[in-house]
Amino acid sequence: MTRVVTTVEDLRAVVAEWRGAGELVAVVPTMGALHAGHLHLVQAAKERADRVVVTIFVNPAQFAPHEDFDRYPRTLETDVAALRDIGAELAYAPTAADMYPSGHATSLAVTGPAEGLETDFRPHFFGGVATVVAKLFLRVLPDLAFFGEKDYQQLLVVKRMVADLDMPMEVVGVPTVREEDGLALSSRNAYLSEEERMLAPLIYAELQAAAERIVAGDNPEEVAAASAAALTRAGFAVDYVAARNAETLAPVRKAGEPVRLLAAARIGNTRLIDNIGV
Ligand code: PAF
Repeated sequence: MTRVVTTVEDLRAVVAEWRGAGELVAVVPTMGALHAGHLHLVQAAKERADRVVVTIFVNPAQFAPHEDFDRYPRTLETDVAALRDIGAELAYAPTAADMYPSGHATSLAVTGPAEGLETDFRPHFFGGVATVVAKLFLRVLPDLAFFGEKDYQQLLVVKRMVADLDMPMEVVGVPTVREEDGLALSSRNAYLSEEERMLAPLIYAELQAAAERIVAGDNPEEVAAASAAALTRAGFAVDYVAARNAETLAPVRKAGEPVRLLAAARIGNTRLIDNIGV
């Protein structure tokens, strides 16, 4: 049985009961449209915590006016059924009016790992993510929070925020779940036509090939540029393919640095992102 609460009062009452019993509480923030990647996060949370809260909220603050906020899939009923099947006790699904009541005037500004990459194309994005995630953390007061490595830059931004704001909790990154052909699971994959779906795994294939070339000693920036060109030739509109320091996302400066390869590219109207460690 998965209980669904929509008010912060109900959420806090349940979590307070758990805390009173000395239980460790984890949160998995999502925008719903849950797929196997989200459920994998919940399983990872269940392994570390006694209780798991899954938040489901399509956050208007992280979408620009021209983006897909209106058509973003909203599937609360099937989401709750999926959570019930894997034994997640609590779903918290606030309304936008509850999260951002009239007069709401405070939001977070993030730099560091938020600079460049996604921010070059979605300048509003990480401010919106950090604001809602901070609010969710303050509402749940979890010991642990689980995020997918699929959104690697987001994971680093949230880790930085938790450290900078002295939030007494741990942020855990969970490896990306992929389809058999390598495509990273994403709620936005549902937008792909049959033809686009066949092309989509090429992003991961290019990242893998690029990682191999970097390991073999090729220059990371040149390798990333060659991958971007290959994706463009295949029909993608490439926002970026970049080799960055895996901890800071700063450009790679010297041999031996931990490297992460990150990519964002559009097929038709769908924007996909992916990344891998080198
Ligand atoms: O990754 C997401 O689904 C969202 O950016 C998040 C973390 C739930 C914040 O709205």
